[in-house]
Amino acid sequence: MKFLHVVGARPNFMKAAPVYRSLAERGHEQVLVHTGQHYDALMSDIFFKALEIPSPDESLNVGSGSHAQQTAAIMSRFEPVVRQHNPQIVLVYGDVNSTVAAALVCSKLGIRFAHVEAGLRSFDRTMPEEINRLVTDQLADFLFTPSADGDENLAHEGVAKEKVFFVGNVMIDTLIRFLPKADELFPRLKAELSLGSFGLVTLHRPSNVDDEATFLPMLQTLDSLSAELPMIFPVHPRTRQKWAARLEQCNPNLRVIDPLGYLEFLALQKNAKVVITDSGGIQEETTYLGTPCLTLRENTERPITVTAGTNLLIGRDWELLRTSFHEALSGGRKQSSRPPLWDGKASERIAEILA
Ligand code: UD1
Repeated sequence: MKFLHVVGARPNFMKAAPVYRSLAERGHEQVLVHTGQHYDALMSDIFFKALEIPSPDESLNVGSGSHAQQTAAIMSRFEPVVRQHNPQIVLVYGDVNSTVAAALVCSKLGIRFAHVEAGLRSFDRTMPEEINRLVTDQLADFLFTPSADGDENLAHEGVAKEKVFFVGNVMIDTLIRFLPKADELFPRLKAELSLGSFGLVTLHRPSNVDDEATFLPMLQTLDSLSAELPMIFPVHPRTRQKWAARLEQCNPNLRVIDPLGYLEFLALQKNAKVVITDSGGIQEETTYLGTPCLTLRENTERPITVTAGTNLLIGRDWELLRTSFHEALSGGRKQSSRPPLWDGKASERIAEILA
């Protein structure tokens, strides 16, 4: 069979990699399309090498823009490419603009497509990703869910259950595969960054970093907490562009660095005392690794990381951030368990179902 994968933004790459590999092992023909939603080398190129997947067959080079501009550019450039390759099934991943753009094109052309990481809901329609998830799931022909809450959400939205498959978490497939390599490189990274005990911070959501009234008190709290525990803060280009001057004024213990590669970031997540983030994927990775995770959001589309895992929703309660941070440092956070089917075999299940 012929499959075509669409990726575009950083969190897509670690989800597509294991599915690509599982389909390759079964001898299927595959085309990899990169929309160019993320284009900086540190946000894109380095992942293909680290994740051991081939370079894209097609690059659409759409770049940044408003949501409408970016989504429209992906759609108009993707349409001729998917027609030319004429795959039997297209695979889209996660909840970024590249996901929904490709989903719309496929459904209008009558090309069947599969959504990997279907069914997740934050129930917050002010999040652009929630809109992307809702639309993509309404249109998909195959919906692969990472956790049982996904199946329930899809049932409530009237998605036919024959289309829905609970397969587990493909991002955890990648984590399991590459954890030994991350462990291997950690001593070198530790020396390079002169690390003792440390925390890890990532922030890039528009709702956190675009608005001064939210971002500055958040940064101030992190700045003061870093006096107790040095924190590594690999900065997304969006955050860097907006706050370069402010970031430079921070306590040197809040160590603002460029985005890291997959293995380096995984090694830091595993060894950090605490992770503070607004990312979706990091909530899942820390749950698997058992590292305490404090999420600077009011809600999550990945509730299993709270009910089973190490994740705690902090919202914008800076006092709660302080107390939870101290709790994490003293080892007082709850025990976590790994969610069902987060076992490194999700992509094999997907390949079996699609074939
Ligand atoms: C996108 C996803 C988000 C995901 C995140 C992971 C959507 C709606 N959002 O957000 O769900 O969590 O990726 O990183 O799809 N920029 C660069 N270089 C790049 C990419 C972006 O400088 O390689 C800058 C541009 O100024 C751009 C801004 O970052 O306008 C935001 O990029 P964009 O792709 O629009 O969204 P993200 O915030 O990265």
